[in-house]
Amino acid sequence: MRVQKQIFTTLIIVLLCFILSCCSCTTHEDQVPLHNLVDDHEEAFGYDSQAYPSYLSMVEDGSFMGLRDQRDHRHHISISNLESCFSMVDDTAIWDVKRVNVLDFGAKSHETEDDTEAFEKAWKVACASKGAAVLEMPQNNYLLKPIRFSGPCKSVMLKVQIEGSIEASDDESDYGKDSRHWLQFDSVQNLVLEGGGTINGNGHKWWQNSCKTNKTLPCKGAPTAVTFYNCKNLIVRNLKVQDAQQMHLSFQKCVNVQAYNLFVTAPETSPNTDGIHVTNTQNIQISNSVIGTGDDCISIVSGSQNVKATDITCGPGHGISIGSLGSRNSEAHVSGVTINRAKLSGTKNGVRIKTWQGGSGSASNIEFENIEMNNVANPIIIDQNYCDQHKPCKDQLSAVEVKNVVYKNIAGTSASDVAIRFECSKSFPCRGVVLQDINLKLSEGNDVHEAIAICNNIANLTEMGLVSPRCSYNNANIVLNYYAHLFTN
Ligand SMILES: *[C@@H]1O[C@H](CO)[C@@H](O)[C@H](O)[C@H]1NC(C)=O
Ligand SMILES: *[C@@H]1O[C@H](CO)[C@@H](O)[C@H](O)[C@H]1NC(C)=O
Repeated sequence: MRVQKQIFTTLIIVLLCFILSCCSCTTHEDQVPLHNLVDDHEEAFGYDSQAYPSYLSMVEDGSFMGLRDQRDHRHHISISNLESCFSMVDDTAIWDVKRVNVLDFGAKSHETEDDTEAFEKAWKVACASKGAAVLEMPQNNYLLKPIRFSGPCKSVMLKVQIEGSIEASDDESDYGKDSRHWLQFDSVQNLVLEGGGTINGNGHKWWQNSCKTNKTLPCKGAPTAVTFYNCKNLIVRNLKVQDAQQMHLSFQKCVNVQAYNLFVTAPETSPNTDGIHVTNTQNIQISNSVIGTGDDCISIVSGSQNVKATDITCGPGHGISIGSLGSRNSEAHVSGVTINRAKLSGTKNGVRIKTWQGGSGSASNIEFENIEMNNVANPIIIDQNYCDQHKPCKDQLSAVEVKNVVYKNIAGTSASDVAIRFECSKSFPCRGVVLQDINLKLSEGNDVHEAIAICNNIANLTEMGLVSPRCSYNNANIVLNYYAHLFTN
């Protein structure tokens, strides 16, 4: 009876999501391009009664929504209907939801007692349950050593409900097996992480032992607080992540991700504590989040495609970055990035593209729009000569190409004289750079001269609307004066 109910529940979810995905690709014009990217194999997509029997077999083997259906190549959860599909799981009156509470597995409500084993056991049960499962972490202080929440799971949908505070062990010997990860979600599909709680990396010891803090110490990496590796259909929302050992949240090799209502914080002085790191990930939307750390608020690196970040408040930190790309002569590809409605305050950079000399590949089709800069040191910057190491980088001929980059409606104040800096490669000049409606002034107390633009090796620049400062001829005298001024000081 129970098994039947589960199968029935699963089937209904499958069908509803299927119907929703039909709607989302036929009724919302604006979602079509995104949808096409998400469901790259998908053609005009109507109800196909022939496909129906295969869903039943998939329900039986625990896989979900045609994701393994090679025959008709359909991905029935796309980023546009992720939300609606998951919200159905909330309706516990209808669905048979397995609830797994970490307290029932021996988790203690005391922050000095290790709860790793309890969490591991609870995860196993949640991950193995059929239908929908909720892994509950009620209000409490939990202490965790490194832990891997591994899939693939049997559950159709899995929700991790973090209401309490999860604290990291700061004993380095606990990280002996894997010194680069603390909490890791590995190969899980249809996962929601939420609950209003806190994830605290307790990073102080790592920061102290970083070679960036203390130059006499050897350089070695510290753990990322939360890693999502090889995940698909993922929502991360309503959480606070703080004081990571190194990066806070990393999405690595994931597909279809929504991350929003996140509050990510660490001190400005904490080294390499990127807020949200995106690597090798396709179709990710990050929105409505406040990020202030010691490194990039958002960093987007190689293999990432179709990345959208909207309504981001950033600062302190190093700004929103694409890259670095192409280090150690590597090949890198990033394309389809939109940063819309961001507010940056007191950051080292605003919107930045950074590549090392000697790399290959490209960063292309990138839009930065509707961005407010407030006392930002390098508001707009492309640096194809990026070099983040002790010894200087040698000149090299190859480079990661930078092309089709649009800056639109960006206004505010620059903390340095150079509000726009395009340091493109001599051998691979930047192509298709558009500046439209740019208004950057020097921060207050710094108004002796104007902000300037330094623009080197751009093959193809378009300035539209009001652009200030300008790259083009109007700017030449100001730049000359600026250099003269540097030499006389
Ligand atoms: C830097 O590290 C060295 C070696 O561990 C240590 O002796 C020194 O006190 C550290 N300096 C600071 C400022 O912490
Ligand atoms: C300059 O860039 C624009 C937009 O990317 C493109 O349409 C145009 O063909 C380019 N012109 C040259 C000369 O490369």
